[in-house]
Amino acid sequence: MKFTSVSLFIISCSNLVFGSPFTRKMFQKPHSIKRDNDTSPGSMLKLSSDADFHFEILRVLSVAPYQGADIGEVLVAANQIVPGDFESFYAAFNDLANIVHDYAKAIDSEKYPVSARNALFREATYYRSADFFLHGNWSDPRIDSLWEKQLTAFDSAIALLPTPGERITLQGDGFEIPAIFFGNGLPGPRPTLLMCNGYDGSQEEMYHAVGEAALQRGINVITFEGPGQPTVRRQQGLGFIPEWEKVVSPIIDYASSRRDVDASKIGLWGESFAGYLAPRVAAFDHRLAAVIAFDGLYSFGQAIFDQFGPEMTALYQSGNEEEFNSIILSMLADPATPTTIRWAIEQGLWSFKAASPFEWATEVEKYTLDGIVQDITTPVFVAAAQEEMFFAGQAELLAEKLGDLATYHLFESIDGAGEHCSLGASVLSSQVILDWFQDVIPS
Ligand SMILES: *[C@@H]1O[C@H](CO)[C@@H](O)[C@H](O)[C@H]1NC(C)=O
Ligand SMILES: *[C@@H]1O[C@H](CO)[C@@H](O)[C@H](O)[C@H]1NC(C)=O
Repeated sequence: MKFTSVSLFIISCSNLVFGSPFTRKMFQKPHSIKRDNDTSPGSMLKLSSDADFHFEILRVLSVAPYQGADIGEVLVAANQIVPGDFESFYAAFNDLANIVHDYAKAIDSEKYPVSARNALFREATYYRSADFFLHGNWSDPRIDSLWEKQLTAFDSAIALLPTPGERITLQGDGFEIPAIFFGNGLPGPRPTLLMCNGYDGSQEEMYHAVGEAALQRGINVITFEGPGQPTVRRQQGLGFIPEWEKVVSPIIDYASSRRDVDASKIGLWGESFAGYLAPRVAAFDHRLAAVIAFDGLYSFGQAIFDQFGPEMTALYQSGNEEEFNSIILSMLADPATPTTIRWAIEQGLWSFKAASPFEWATEVEKYTLDGIVQDITTPVFVAAAQEEMFFAGQAELLAEKLGDLATYHLFESIDGAGEHCSLGASVLSSQVILDWFQDVIPS
């Protein structure tokens, strides 16, 4: 078996032609802007020659419109990063975080609360980014120390919001659910969006990715994390579970009990891998008024096995655990292995708390909506990205399976929105999706 036959995580562009019923619900752009090279995808300036580093640097820039970063300092840090060198990624963002930490500390937060909050939010983002590529070695003490720093900075920042964020801990079935309630100070019970991140992101990032955009529109926000996600993985030692309804149902109970939440207008936003987790919840808990799959993911298992390619999939199915593990582990050790593959496997092992690649693959297989998709009764916004690099074809599959319940929307490269989760276009994606949410919840 040769590694060259493995087509893991190859960037692909899905320009599918749709003939199925969900096409009629596709959003139309108000007018089409004529530009040269209009149709060529991948027209964005690259921030690194390493495709995954480009994506992760863009991810940091992406939170700038909602207080999560400042552009110039991120570009300066990005210039220190050596393509493919995980330690250099750590060093660049750790140095930046330390600098911004010193700025934040020097600000009198009583006199200048906005300045202090801005600096603290940026500090938190940069410590999170410094941690991002470090999960290959579970004993690396920086995994916890950087996280403590990001939590401390973030908590100091949300205490300085006009309506301070409230940290809450809810009881799940065998685990605790860390969550944050962000109210907008408006009178009366309000529509509320519950939000979680995916394979590798935190609830703190969700505040900047879309939380603040929702608050600006008078929507309350509850961010949260479940097993496998950054704080739960670290503090409770738990890997991902497919039964995401066990995480979200207690949050719906909690939200419904609050006087400032309109229980008939609760939505759930799932980012990235949670583009599977969120619709899954709706198959078991029918109290949600709307679900957003950003981007849509029908079968995470299938998406991963698509990336493995037919030969590795056949090897997995043959049950030859030893050879499967040895091939994957030698890929991880090989410096020529593309960052996306190396990172995706290291992060998968860590976040699923899997002892081996074979065990991870066995877990991953459980994450499909097959057999439960028909139990969903909630309108679902199914976002797709034109240059989807992880889950190609999955949003289309989810929309097709949901039929009339789906509102499918393709975010396009020409708008700078073609990356996975439309990274870099959070203002546009918030506009499209949050306007849909306001239209779909009962008036
Ligand atoms: C469009 O693409 C062609 C071929 O790559 C290139 O020569 C041309 O300069 C591009 N035009 C614009 C406006 O970017
Ligand atoms: C993992 O990190 C620990 C703590 O820094 C270190 O002692 C150990 O050598 C590392 N292991 C590998 C394989 O790099």
